[in-house]
Amino acid sequence: MSKITAAITALGSYLPEDVLTNAMLEKMVDTNDEWITTRTGIKERRILKGAGKGTSFMAIKAAENLLEKRGLAPEEIDLVLVATATPDMQAAATAVYVASKIGATNAFAFDLEAACSSFLYGMSVASGYVMSGKYKKVLLIGADKCSSMIDYTDRATCIIFGDGAGAVLFEPNKEGLGLQDEYLRCDGTGREFLQVKAGGSMYPLTEEVLEKREQFVFQDGKTVFKHAVSNMADVAVKILDRNQLTKEDIHWLAAHQANKRIIEATANRIDLNRDKVMMNIEKYGNTTSATLPLLLVDYEKQLQKGENIIFAAFGGGFTWGAIYLKWAYNS
Ligand code: UT7
Repeated sequence: MSKITAAITALGSYLPEDVLTNAMLEKMVDTNDEWITTRTGIKERRILKGAGKGTSFMAIKAAENLLEKRGLAPEEIDLVLVATATPDMQAAATAVYVASKIGATNAFAFDLEAACSSFLYGMSVASGYVMSGKYKKVLLIGADKCSSMIDYTDRATCIIFGDGAGAVLFEPNKEGLGLQDEYLRCDGTGREFLQVKAGGSMYPLTEEVLEKREQFVFQDGKTVFKHAVSNMADVAVKILDRNQLTKEDIHWLAAHQANKRIIEATANRIDLNRDKVMMNIEKYGNTTSATLPLLLVDYEKQLQKGENIIFAAFGGGFTWGAIYLKWAYNS
């Protein structure tokens, strides 16, 4: 019997309509389009507006988009995973609500949180369930309403983040396509440099916490940047080396969209031509768990069956890693 691999077989996405441009940010904080563009590559981001709309709103829409594109009945889904750093609520998993709302009545569901590496880690979990042979259709959604944890008076963070959701379906494959290898890492000493300090069990919300604005993202950008550049490049090299891949074997780099300079540094370390580097940071900014699936959606038409994609991500925690995947279909 041939070995079962886990392949991505369908994609979906949702982006809120409201656009926050660099010009709009110039009116909110002391910044300018030129600084943001040259330091990050970002031109605009999407923001989810409307009372009572959380991450699930976007995750549901992305999932429905996938189901419709693929012509799949929700009852066929075995597991719904929502990778997110901004769940709807502290308790009651967002994924469970999403599963019920899309009609995945035969699925179980849970959330997965590893900051900006949530989706990458989610790929490992989703494919693991499929490769085990226990489940056949695993829906992995990367969704974040980053605007809910951003202080729009803090220019160090508000220029970077945006909202969005992307969904992928993992299914068994007998042609050897899909996930080939993964190398996932973490380092807990990193959490002081990128965190939302309050609102969890350690520092529940109090008036004092709110006064100090500790419910928002804090980032020591320079330190995170340094770690992101070296670690993301290191894992990309590692996964190439241990699979005996040369730069000619790589068709695409799908790297977490946090900063154009970090993505380019990773591409440079593996000596990859720019036309092989997926990039959409200019349109959406850093959507945390949604960056990787949103890249796949934007490049879906160009992807060919059998092509080799290297995924790489780095995020708070710190968390990071790389995945080597063979694309499984022509659209
Ligand atoms: O997704 C999870 C992981 N996150 C990341 O990977 C993000 C990693 N970090 C970064 O992308 C970058 O560090 C930032 C984009 C956040 C900042 O870029 P930087 O090149 O590291 O800038 P910096 O913090 O070193 O600041 C350089 C200068 C400073 O001024 P002085 O001290 O040189 O006079 C800042 O005060 O730029 C100033 N500055 C700004 N100026 C205009 C900082 N933020 C802004 C701003 N607009 N928004």
